[in-house]
Amino acid sequence: MEIKGRTVVITGAGRGLGRTTAQTLADRGARLALADVNDEGLAETLRLCEAAGAEARVYHLDVSDEAAVEERFAAIARDFGALDALINNAGITRDGLLVKAREGRVEKKMSLEDWNAVIGVDLRGVFLCTREAAEQMIGLGSGGVIASISSISRAGNFGQTNYSAAKAGIASMTVTWAKELARHGIRAAAIAPGFTETPMVAQMPEKALDRIRAQVPLGRLARPEEIAHSVVYVLENDYFNGRVLEVDGGLRL
Ligand SMILES: NC(=O)c1ccc[n+]([C@@H]2O[C@H](COP(=O)([O-])OP(=O)(O)OC[C@H]3O[C@@H](n4cnc5c(N)ncnc54)[C@H](O)[C@@H]3O)[C@@H](O)[C@H]2O)c1
Repeated sequence: MEIKGRTVVITGAGRGLGRTTAQTLADRGARLALADVNDEGLAETLRLCEAAGAEARVYHLDVSDEAAVEERFAAIARDFGALDALINNAGITRDGLLVKAREGRVEKKMSLEDWNAVIGVDLRGVFLCTREAAEQMIGLGSGGVIASISSISRAGNFGQTNYSAAKAGIASMTVTWAKELARHGIRAAAIAPGFTETPMVAQMPEKALDRIRAQVPLGRLARPEEIAHSVVYVLENDYFNGRVLEVDGGLRL
């Protein structure tokens, strides 16, 4: 798919990887539908995309809310008269051990609330946005691409029962969608970044980050531009389908 002139929806576009991806696609002439719950962040991303000369609009959207996702994707297709690609980027973490125990006594458990919050945004949100994007793409008859941000943590990461489950789910949904949607001219692929310098990771203690850097063969975290570069690859390569592109500096969990 040639990016220039294509309408791309980016969820979680209000900061971090979503914002960098928006800027990267703006530089390549995409038309951008920027979605997030963070309106201030969205306004700044819009400013940056417009400064790069791109046509862009913002949409307040909680990806875990079915009615809102249905309404916004219909609005995006109406507003742009097109919908060529979806970048499922919105995501949250609520890390914690499944059970935290000392001297044979469990002191803390991962709450159902933390489980539901992460599954709601990182898994249900990706399902809902892809379902609605696919409906619009099929109606418009011009095919498209679904690119979802999974994670290195999909292999199963310490302290991330909820997040690992969601990110593994993205990988398997991607394979399913590649099989189901190809007949409509829609490709589906995922990207599994390693630890990347965004506000999400900036919340982690510096000591933990140092430990991670020491384990990465390249000795550093990814820059958001390097992950956005793989989004460009997934959009542009018409034979990349049903696979997870790993961009992790060589670190395997
Ligand atoms: N940073 C990393 O190391 C890393 C590694 C692997 C994968 N990822 C994934 O990359 C994606 C982007 O992460 P990031 O590091 O830029 O995170 P971030 O926290 O910096 O940004 C995430 C954005 O998603 C938005 N968001 C949160 N909940 C939402 C909801 N319900 N509806 C709509 N928007 C919502 C936030 O407002 C924020 O703007 C996530 O899916 C994350 O899991 C990040």
